[in-house]
Amino acid sequence: MKKIILTGDRPTGKLHLGHYVGSLKRRVELQDSGKFDKVNIMIADAQALTDNADNPEKVRQNIIEVALDYMSCGLDPERSTIFIQSQISELTELTFFYSNLVTVSRLQRNPTVKTEIKMRNFETSIPVGFFTYPISQAADITAFDATTVPAGEDQMPMIEQTREIVNKFNTVYGEALVLPEILLPTNQACLRLPGTDGKAKMSKSLGNCIYLSDDSDTVKKKVMGMYTDPDHIKITDPGKIEGNTVFTYLDAFSRPEHFSAFLPDYVGLDELKDHYKKGGLGDVKVKKFLLAVLEEELTPIRARRKELEKDIPYIYDVLKKGSDDARETAAATLSRVKAAMRINYFDDKELIKAQSEKYTPAE
Ligand code: TRP
Repeated sequence: MKKIILTGDRPTGKLHLGHYVGSLKRRVELQDSGKFDKVNIMIADAQALTDNADNPEKVRQNIIEVALDYMSCGLDPERSTIFIQSQISELTELTFFYSNLVTVSRLQRNPTVKTEIKMRNFETSIPVGFFTYPISQAADITAFDATTVPAGEDQMPMIEQTREIVNKFNTVYGEALVLPEILLPTNQACLRLPGTDGKAKMSKSLGNCIYLSDDSDTVKKKVMGMYTDPDHIKITDPGKIEGNTVFTYLDAFSRPEHFSAFLPDYVGLDELKDHYKKGGLGDVKVKKFLLAVLEEELTPIRARRKELEKDIPYIYDVLKKGSDDARETAAATLSRVKAAMRINYFDDKELIKAQSEKYTPAE
């Protein structure tokens, strides 16, 4: 069986370090590994509109930001199909058909949707489109016959629900859809990178994100202001590692070679943590180290972004070509789905023949 990737992001803002370690960095590695027959990366503008119906301009403006972030991280249009969800109308058809296979109570149980409804104060007035976006996400994934969805932990319930839809569809209509799997980050700290304030998740509305496109001064300010251990007041005080954002980020980003380059007094992260726990190591020193580590990662991304920003029409051209390619794939899946569902009336010579015979029986 072919190995195919489909994943994507809602264009509601620039991408941040949470996106990067949760999925983006992995996608680039997978793209470059040569182990996949096809890599599809989707800018999920239609999904973004499910909770931004009154703000289409925000979505429109952020398409280019996300595309620039993608390509500056190393997603390469020669090797990956980068496309815009709303341009593939086949996806909405699939969503409509799949919605017959999902119950309202099942949607109500989706933990990610539940959390999002709370966060947006939607409790008493949930837009139907938002409530049903897991079905549309199943359409995104299955339209491309995706076997593999590299994504963060918050997407687990979506993939679970997609798998249910696939199984149901294949049972009711015959094997037509591919069963996908989520590919989670292997590093615990990358599963859900906290915001710089130590809150559970990076989120634009909380203002606790470090963006891939932030300049060095901004990153410095954000790192120096990061949440650590509030009880670690004097350098000599023993410090806590758990819940200490700076150390969580080091768990996600630091490698042994960073120590020899930027902090040669320590062989590695364990030794640094031990010293912090014992007392005698100040937050500023650890933050400066984290800053050096982040800068090493972000500098080439920033430089590529600067280059790409010089030719914005080219980026739109990439997205248009990607969308044309994606539409072709999705159309083939839709035909297969329609045939399985027995709604392919005009391609079905047998149907026409059988109906004719019913009305004009052979003598
Ligand atoms: N739900 C994802 C997000 O919040 C975006 C998305 C839409 C997606 N369709 C997808 C991710 C399909 C993976 C696969 O960013």
